[in-house]
Amino acid sequence: MIKLEEYDSVMALTGAGVSAESGVPTFRGGGASAVWKGMSFDVISSAQMVTENLKEVWEWFDYRRGVLATCVPNPAHAALAEIESRVSDFLLVTQNVDGLHNRAGSKNVVEIHGNINRARCEGCGRKFELEFDVVPHNPVNCEGCGSDLRPDIVLFGEMLPDGAYEKAIDWAERCDLFFVIGTSALVYPAAAIPQIAKRHGAYLIEINPEETPLTQIADESHRGAAGKILPSLVRPER
Ligand code: OAD
Ligand code: ZN
Repeated sequence: MIKLEEYDSVMALTGAGVSAESGVPTFRGGGASAVWKGMSFDVISSAQMVTENLKEVWEWFDYRRGVLATCVPNPAHAALAEIESRVSDFLLVTQNVDGLHNRAGSKNVVEIHGNINRARCEGCGRKFELEFDVVPHNPVNCEGCGSDLRPDIVLFGEMLPDGAYEKAIDWAERCDLFFVIGTSALVYPAAAIPQIAKRHGAYLIEINPEETPLTQIADESHRGAAGKILPSLVRPER
């Protein structure tokens, strides 16, 4: 049991595992989305593929949007939204592009890897919301300048969105409670955020069915599904 009320500033970092119970496949550990047309996800989700074969990139992301269209937030997403409503200062940093945190009611969310329901113009940078249950995507070209649209997602070999990492680090340095949930903690710079929080004195709680590189430095590491463990950890005492 965590007494949330004893903490001034609370932060969380989530990864694909927080959405696993919603039916969203994870990347590592062999989910259905780990390979696409014989290419591993880190090949198809790369900056190079956008240059060489944008059509395939869209096909892969449209496939994932199709999977997501049937998914709904699970109790872990709901618990994070509830934590936000119970503490004065809260920031959720997610590596997920599925938008499920927002759909569950989380407000202060930084999507450091972008959002799958948004496209961005390769020419002028303008962003377009895609209807999340309409697959394939539409429009195909920028209404403004006519250039190709690409998914507004951070691919391997690309920078994080402007200011996103800086904001996360600023919070990590001053939060006093940090949840790291459902991430293999292998992809940087995201994986550095909980380490920085810990180094600056935050109490670090990990939730993951498997050990990760963060397990060693966590103050508590809970083995199991986020949708079961997180609600029980933060449920108010009666
Ligand atoms: P991974 O697929 O690497 O890791 C998912 C983690 O979730 C693993 O450690 C699992 O053990 C854990 N997990 C599985 N089911 C869970 C459950 N029910 N509750 C809690 N945890 C569970 O996903 P990420 O760490 O998010 O990048 O991967 C990081 C980035 O790599 C992603 O954001 C993606 C990918 O390339 C982009 O899309 C840009
Ligand atoms: Zn444009």
